[in-house]
Amino acid sequence: MIKQQLARFNRLDLLTHATALEKLERLSAWLGRDVYVKRDDLTPLAMGGNKLRKLEYLAADALAQGADTLITAGAIQSNHVRQTAALAARLGLGCVALLENPIGTNDSNYLGNGNRLLLDLFDAKVELVDNLDNADQQLQALAERQRSNGKKPYLVPIGGSNALGALGYVRAGLELAGQIEDSGLEFAAVVLASGSAGTHSGLALALSEVLPNLPVIGVTVSRNDEDQRPKVQGLAERTAELLGVSLPKSFKVQLWDEYFAPRYGEPNAGTLAAVKLLASQEGLLLDPVYTGKAMAGLLDGVGRQRFNDGPIIFLHTGGAPALFAYNSAF
Ligand SMILES: Cc1ncc(COP(=O)(O)O)c(C=O)c1O
Repeated sequence: MIKQQLARFNRLDLLTHATALEKLERLSAWLGRDVYVKRDDLTPLAMGGNKLRKLEYLAADALAQGADTLITAGAIQSNHVRQTAALAARLGLGCVALLENPIGTNDSNYLGNGNRLLLDLFDAKVELVDNLDNADQQLQALAERQRSNGKKPYLVPIGGSNALGALGYVRAGLELAGQIEDSGLEFAAVVLASGSAGTHSGLALALSEVLPNLPVIGVTVSRNDEDQRPKVQGLAERTAELLGVSLPKSFKVQLWDEYFAPRYGEPNAGTLAAVKLLASQEGLLLDPVYTGKAMAGLLDGVGRQRFNDGPIIFLHTGGAPALFAYNSAF
């Protein structure tokens, strides 16, 4: 049902192949539990990451509307802004981004290296703001200013996380379900970072229809469980509505909140240890803001027997360019 409904939406055809689902052999042996990774860190644009899946739908809409500029917002080290700016460059569109410094740091690498360096290469225009507490209004005001300058802006919400963007992860969920079926394995869970929520909502929506017994566990990285839960639930409802389906009965928001502290954009000891472990054992690069926290949750969850039996899938959503901004943390 979801699959047929999804086919009605326009999408840029940039992700022409499924991202790989691979076993992490050395980590699995070390942990005594098989761990597989879904390589959305290797989507084919500007150092990869989860946002291209959402942008395939959002940018198709922008082009259909005749937009000439993508506007969006995020942290100075936002992977989302980097991928949006790269796609704008690829499509011959302008890009303007509102950027905040969520950890109030003066570290020159945070302010100028990593993702922020790449924004300049993509010719994105950047406006620094004190905070993004009212991001929707701030983006509307930016759009208004762009229009008064004769531009045709298209507003991409923070993280690309509205219902249209979340379709990218509905599609990813169906893609993953096909790979799970091909593997013949009975997986215990999928683990991912849950931030602006489009990834979590879209994936959980699709999997709740096609693999209703497979838990989808979001590790909080942007706000605590209490605030994140209604965000994931609400976006899943709006995404289902956009698709013209009802939320499957088995749909459930599952969040692990223990790996988030101290706050968004600031790694804890477990985050750094997870990044180091995956790099040293697998040559696999996680990041200090999202996937490091999600992997810390997976590792601790195995140790504390929080999973059912069976191999575990880690959705790698990207983010490694931020490592160069957080070098002082390691
Ligand atoms: C590397 C990485 N992982 C995970 C996420 C979280 O995805 P979402 O915002 O869809 O919850 C982001 C969002 O910026 C990200 O950059």
